[in-house]
Amino acid sequence: MHRKQALVTGATGAIGAAIAQALANDLGFAVTLVGRDEAKTKRLAEEIRTNSGNPHVSYTLCDLSRRKEITALAARWDKPLHVLINNAAQTPRKRCETPEGIELQFATNVLGYVWMIDAFRDVLRRSAPARVVNVASYWAGDLELDDLEFKRRPYSNNTAYRQSKQADRMLTAAYAERFKADGVTVNCCHPGDVNSQLSNNLGFGGHESPSQGADTPVWLATDPAGGQVTGKYFEHRRETHCRFAENRDAIEQLFSICHQYQ
Ligand SMILES: NC(=O)c1ccc[n+]([C@@H]2O[C@H](COP(=O)([O-])OP(=O)(O)OC[C@H]3O[C@@H](n4cnc5c(N)ncnc54)[C@H](OP(=O)(O)O)[C@@H]3O)[C@@H](O)[C@H]2O)c1
Repeated sequence: MHRKQALVTGATGAIGAAIAQALANDLGFAVTLVGRDEAKTKRLAEEIRTNSGNPHVSYTLCDLSRRKEITALAARWDKPLHVLINNAAQTPRKRCETPEGIELQFATNVLGYVWMIDAFRDVLRRSAPARVVNVASYWAGDLELDDLEFKRRPYSNNTAYRQSKQADRMLTAAYAERFKADGVTVNCCHPGDVNSQLSNNLGFGGHESPSQGADTPVWLATDPAGGQVTGKYFEHRRETHCRFAENRDAIEQLFSICHQYQ
């Protein structure tokens, strides 16, 4: 049986765990969870294996705010990759930086997505048809290209989060163009409003279940529709107009700035 390989970041979170479970329920997938806490990630992989009856569920560890960890993750990957779901994000209440000195939301929620796609670019191309699904949000905006790290503006976790999700949507358009000839689609979505650490930090609860939140990302990863369109933004399985995908100049500027970070 030709089993498809899927990699899910933020798999220990509310929506990520539901995404990983739904993919594993489809026995045609081997699923690798990306976590950062070994005990938690290992326990979840065992739980998903048991619940799905799919033995092909494994895990790997990576701090996605650090490029060198992502590079190491890609270096130890020795399989094809058909589905990459960039889902990990965080919303610290106070401004913090990575050991490399990058503001943490920008590093995790934006550069983490960029570095994962870049690190797996050649594997995705070799594995095509392949798909990248960037979990973004309708809660997006406030991006300032000259202050992506809140060095000039006062930090607010809400503004930094909205900016990061706008960036995820813009970068989806940038990568879709670059992968167009390769059989790799790149789409993004709003998952749903789900109670989680991330939403609680922003002062929100959530009226949808984790599996409802996982529905659109999983649909983009598995339904034929997600292999036919690229560079688009979806809400509740519906392609939705994205105003952030209109300004090509801003998209290219953002892409270029992100690629100046190490
Ligand atoms: N919840 C909502 O209502 C909502 C709405 C719109 C969009 N979204 C999007 O949905 C996605 C998932 O959010 P969620 O609500 O499920 O959040 P969550 O429950 O807080 O999960 C976040 C996940 O990201 C991981 N993570 C954070 N920083 C990391 C890092 N530096 N390295 C590795 N992993 C890291 C966390 O790992 P730990 O378990 O180790 O902390 C966790 O697995 C995010 O992209 C978010 O923007 C959520």
